[in-house]
Amino acid sequence: MKDTHKLKNLKSLEGPFPKFDPTNVPSNPNELFQEWFYTVIEKGVHEPHSMTLSTINSFGYPDARVLILKDMDEDGWYFASGSNSVKGQQLKMNPNVSLTFYWSLIGRQVRIRGTSCKVGKERSAKDFLERGEVARALALLGKQSKVLPDSKILEESILEQIERLKSKPNTVDAHWCLYKVTASEVEFWQGDRERKHIRLLYRMENNKWIKELLWP
Ligand SMILES: Cc1cc2nc3c(=O)[nH]c(=O)nc-3n(C[C@H](O)[C@H](O)[C@H](O)COP(=O)(O)O)c2cc1C
Repeated sequence: MKDTHKLKNLKSLEGPFPKFDPTNVPSNPNELFQEWFYTVIEKGVHEPHSMTLSTINSFGYPDARVLILKDMDEDGWYFASGSNSVKGQQLKMNPNVSLTFYWSLIGRQVRIRGTSCKVGKERSAKDFLERGEVARALALLGKQSKVLPDSKILEESILEQIERLKSKPNTVDAHWCLYKVTASEVEFWQGDRERKHIRLLYRMENNKWIKELLWP
């Protein structure tokens, strides 16, 4: 009872938020995303590059988890993971994905719907080699999301892989993969204290971006 009361008293979308004029925006969503992303960095949003990747599992159910945005450019948004992970296997069966960002400090959400594909081996290897030692050791184990019977096994297995990396520092995990998401729809959502949120949708139609406002 007491906790429900606390939940009810929590505030949301209090602001103050930056202004967003949806009539004065770039013709493609990648550019607007970059503008918004630089704003979140300037405003000091904590971990602004954390995003939710949603995939579809073999039973047709959505599956979502938080990942790090590794890069973005005029072609798309990039994330990295093992292609042998649960999400990697799901992406192989169904490359349709969505990415969701929410930056509460400035009341902005971005929803990206599109298709993922693997980026070449060279960029994936570069991403792998930039990871910390333990992160590389874990990736080499290839056991992400498998049942861990005992945490001692985790420590021992990591140490084993670290030894391997010490003797061969340029080892790259064969399954490590940088994925690119090419968007077909991107929605920019600017929250408003009075709930008159501004929603701007870019959708691809006949190879052109169409812009539409949506009801809040
Ligand atoms: C802030 C944050 C960042 C993360 N970044 C990554 C990442 O870049 N790559 C990754 O594979 N998992 C990352 N994870 C872990 C995933 O959320 C997830 O637990 C893991 O990838 C297993 O997902 P799967 O079983 O659906 O494949 C991150 C988690 C958090 C909370």
